[in-house]
Amino acid sequence: MANPPPLGIVTGGTSGIGRAIAYRLAEDGYQLIVTGRDVDRGQVLASDITTRTGRLTQFVALPSDDWKAYDDLISAIGSKPIVTLVAAAAEGIQAHISDTARDDFERLLRVNVLAPHYLVQRLAPHFSRPASVTLISSDAGIEGEQALGAYSVTKAALNMLGRMLALDLAPQDIRVNVVCPGDTVPGMRYLLRPNETKRSDMDMLSWPIPPRGRLGSAEDTADLVGFLSSPKAGFIVGSVMLVDGGSRAGRRDDGIG
Ligand SMILES: NC(=O)c1ccc[n+]([C@@H]2O[C@H](COP(=O)([O-])OP(=O)(O)OC[C@H]3O[C@@H](n4cnc5c(N)ncnc54)[C@H](OP(=O)(O)O)[C@@H]3O)[C@@H](O)[C@H]2O)c1
Repeated sequence: MANPPPLGIVTGGTSGIGRAIAYRLAEDGYQLIVTGRDVDRGQVLASDITTRTGRLTQFVALPSDDWKAYDDLISAIGSKPIVTLVAAAAEGIQAHISDTARDDFERLLRVNVLAPHYLVQRLAPHFSRPASVTLISSDAGIEGEQALGAYSVTKAALNMLGRMLALDLAPQDIRVNVVCPGDTVPGMRYLLRPNETKRSDMDMLSWPIPPRGRLGSAEDTADLVGFLSSPKAGFIVGSVMLVDGGSRAGRRDDGIG
């Protein structure tokens, strides 16, 4: 009997970068579980991936900081070993850190740092050997952005979380790496100003164009994640990689000398 397809899990897979990663992994042959909060969007997406790629894709509702909801994810996994896990779900706040309310900061820490930690801890017994974990961080976690204070702090913490998990899990044949996208269109839907409920479409217009000459696409990051998930990346462990078209490579010549 033929081996069943390998299982991949993508959190925050219902839109943007996570969604592109889900399509990439399905095209690469993975059977998938995709999570998010929006049940309608999640179910439509799962059905579309299954139809287009022929790889069975299931949606599981998983609010990142609802610790009980992880039981549903474990049930959906059943006895199938996880070959690749990608944690992409995240939120942000457009505010300086000194203006960030404690509740907002706590929520970001739960969603962006504690949830990926809990996810890996809960799923560790279900990993195949070898297996791959990719945490989706941000260029703001490498060089902080004052306008996104708390978000930058959480993504810097996520980078170190990935490296510490890499040390713990590499001896068990589980590779952990971190990918840091730069500005990627259309941008995070939950990177809101305090009291805003929908992100302004105008935000993108103020983004500087990277040295590469264009803004990032979700597929730019998905391509790297596809590679990191594959056996070809077998010696890449604990790396924190930018996908930013050169934006953080250094300070550009501004003509001042
Ligand atoms: N876009 C960029 O410019 C950019 C740049 C650097 C880094 N990143 C990183 O890339 C990742 C994806 O960003 P994106 O632009 O693709 O964002 P996005 O389009 O807003 O997608 C965010 C995803 O995360 C899920 N999510 C958000 N909050 C959640 C929560 N509390 N619980 C569970 N799921 C939650 C959303 O699910 P629902 O909608 O179903 O709730 C959605 O699937 C994030 O880690 C982000 O920090 C993005």
